[in-house]
Amino acid sequence: MADTLDIKISKTTTSKLPETDFSNLPFGKIFSDHMFVADYDNGEWKNFEIVPYGNLSFSPAMASLHYGQTFFEGLKAFKQKDGKIVVFRPYKNAQRFNLSAARMCMPALSEEIFVKSIAALVDLDRNWVPDAANHSLYIRPFMFATDPYLGVQPSKSYKYMILTCPVGAYFAKPLKVKIENKYSRASEGGFGFAKAGGNYGGSLFPAQEALKEGFDQVIWTDGKDHAFIEELGAANVMFVIDGTLVTPSTRDTILNGVTRDSVLTLARNWGVPVEERRVSVAEVIEGLKAGKLTEAFGVGTAATVTSIATIGYEGELYHLPEATADQFSSKALKILTDMRYGLAPDEFDWNYVI
Ligand code: PLP
Ligand code: COI
Repeated sequence: MADTLDIKISKTTTSKLPETDFSNLPFGKIFSDHMFVADYDNGEWKNFEIVPYGNLSFSPAMASLHYGQTFFEGLKAFKQKDGKIVVFRPYKNAQRFNLSAARMCMPALSEEIFVKSIAALVDLDRNWVPDAANHSLYIRPFMFATDPYLGVQPSKSYKYMILTCPVGAYFAKPLKVKIENKYSRASEGGFGFAKAGGNYGGSLFPAQEALKEGFDQVIWTDGKDHAFIEELGAANVMFVIDGTLVTPSTRDTILNGVTRDSVLTLARNWGVPVEERRVSVAEVIEGLKAGKLTEAFGVGTAATVTSIATIGYEGELYHLPEATADQFSSKALKILTDMRYGLAPDEFDWNYVI
């Protein structure tokens, strides 16, 4: 595993583990003891290091601060009942990492370095992987431009880093969401498919507006006519319509989610009819009115599988039937969870053992 990547490890002398309350883990606020750091310079990745989690110092002219040349990934490690630690499908994130890098004019990182750097960090901080149900270690690899230069051009130097956070559930309850028909997250020819920081920065204002109206999240629609469904906040979105699992097909405005792919794989394996295609707002509203749309849910690493209870559109609220244990999304969440925690066979070889 990690031994084939030459990593200099400097361990902390003051672990925060004893003072960390694992019964209260708000998402993304508590960081484990160490972080991974590497530099890109003169056309190559170097200086692979694991160091104590802490602040770094940079030039205020650093390119990523001014022009957003930065992107990230998100994945999770789980502790299984026999103490084994697994990371869920890290090679999928490695592939997407490089798709984001290419679109942002940033250097590729080999899948081996990506996965092995994660493995080394998680291995060192393995005691930070929570063992409570629905808890995990969230892993945040990211890359950013570091040239101290204010001209608008791709940076020549970069940093690749990984942070990890013990986390519980991201969403506490089924969501009340709004189909967004004014703002958009991404446009044709843009970079919505990349996990670039700017996609999230631009989503904050519409999300705040929706919050003021009493919604938890927005369902993004296409940037041209707001006629087609795209994503749900920072997750992909799926519907069950007339017993068919329907989800927007991926395109340059949509992030190709690992959870999305996993849920579609499970559905196809179970013989559930699946349609990946453009999904119009009109058909969702008609389906809700006619009672044919029986489930709506978000799928993502942080979100796992999160039910939507209420959908708002043009001033109307549409309520979905109360979730039951035997509906598709509940079954998909249960099997995914069981596979990750080693309580069900890892049929598709999704768990990468640390
Ligand atoms: N869409 C967006 C915009 C996201 O930020 C995420 C979260 O990573 C997803 C979809 C779901 O992707 P994944 O399942 O790979 O986490
Ligand atoms: C993820 O699910 O990994 C995300 O990126 C969601 C969010 C925390 C940005």
